[in-house]
Amino acid sequence: MKDLTPARESLDPIEIASRDEITALQLERLKWSLRHAYDNVPFYRQSFDKAGVHPDDLHTLSDLAKFPFTVKTDLRDNYPFGMFAVPRDQIARIHASSGTTGQPTVVGYTKTDLDNWGHVVARSLRASGLKKGDMLHNAYGYGLFTGGLGIHLGADKLGISTVPISGGMTPRQVRLIEDFKPNGITVTPSYALSILDEYARQGIDPRQSSLDVGIFGAEPWTNAMRLEIEQAFDMHAVDIYGLSEVMGPGVSCECVETKDGLHIWEDHFYPEVINPVTGELVADGEKGELVFTSLTKEAFPIIRYRTRDLTRLLAGTARTMRRMEKITGRSDDMIILRGVNVFPTQIEEALMSIPDLAPHFQIELTKPDRMDQMRVMCECVSVDIGPDARIAAGAALASQIKETVGISVKIDVVDVGTVARSEGKAVRIIDKRPKA
Ligand code: DLL
Repeated sequence: MKDLTPARESLDPIEIASRDEITALQLERLKWSLRHAYDNVPFYRQSFDKAGVHPDDLHTLSDLAKFPFTVKTDLRDNYPFGMFAVPRDQIARIHASSGTTGQPTVVGYTKTDLDNWGHVVARSLRASGLKKGDMLHNAYGYGLFTGGLGIHLGADKLGISTVPISGGMTPRQVRLIEDFKPNGITVTPSYALSILDEYARQGIDPRQSSLDVGIFGAEPWTNAMRLEIEQAFDMHAVDIYGLSEVMGPGVSCECVETKDGLHIWEDHFYPEVINPVTGELVADGEKGELVFTSLTKEAFPIIRYRTRDLTRLLAGTARTMRRMEKITGRSDDMIILRGVNVFPTQIEEALMSIPDLAPHFQIELTKPDRMDQMRVMCECVSVDIGPDARIAAGAALASQIKETVGISVKIDVVDVGTVARSEGKAVRIIDKRPKA
């Protein structure tokens, strides 16, 4: 793999500023953001008033803990534009995420917001090893989802030639990578696997492709998956994170030279980690739920938003800004199976340790006889694996899960190509249990 480490001179000075400089900037911006939200969004005025706090009560960054949280239902209750802090005619862009319950969450951006967003995405792409003049195959979905258009903004800013292919039409994805020869690809890790399948189907060696780096996010993925993708394409695989409520892709990103967790662009997004049960702050290094406060957003300021994503904050390495560890999963995706907490990423990790099994999987939950049961559907790496080896691979996975996660699950090694493939975010859990 090529050394893609960006030149130190190409970084934004704030990325490598001292902690004192970063926290001074955060404090100044946080005061502005709280005031802006309070003055312009009735929801924040009411929620601050109810909690007995006022933007003037913030003197230090730690005072933020006195302010109330914002949760997804607050956004839904103010559908569609109730959380906007500027008049509608100053909104330059609207995005929305459909979520699982139907009612979309709507977010808006002013021109300045789009500029800032482009800036943090450009920073992320640069951290991933791309530079001016490179070509990017952008296979995140274009549309209301922030993935496609968000990455596009940053690629424009960095001076990259973007191929806005969006998701889907997998044979064409392979064709254009082969014909246009991009340096980088942005795509969900699960869709990258579908593209990889298509390479095999067309009999083309992905290791010979032009790709030097893949920038993967929008869903949890493991370091084991990173290795698999890096080996399959002979390229770097870097993690990018974000959520529409906070901005979109580019809230944090790994640096290609370290790949040791995602540096949070702390000059725009202030992170906290809390105990998801008590809501109390936990110390850096301790695991909990990630909470974000926007520091510069005009159209859609967001204060102490509970992301439901589980991670921990770590000191900076390649940059001075703090890192978040690769996300284990969302608290919503946590399966409690006979008292044990299980995340799909743990199943992914176990699966990747069995050489005969492919990385595609789905988890089915049922509740016969009032006992939760989990079935993992997965596939062999090829049709050449005979029935005995198939049974052995399934048994090996069951025992690996038993050993590492501590639960007994049923494994179905189904025919190659049977597990549903993703063109965007993978659906990992099919919950067939009766609703309580
Ligand atoms: O998924 C934004 C995005 C697009 C990020 C492209 C990265 C690349 P939403 O659709 O609002 O926005 O979903 C946000 O996706 O709260 C996490 O649960 C999950 N997620 C996003 N990035 C990662 C990641 C986009 N790198 C939700 N690792 C978030 C794990 C991720 N989960």
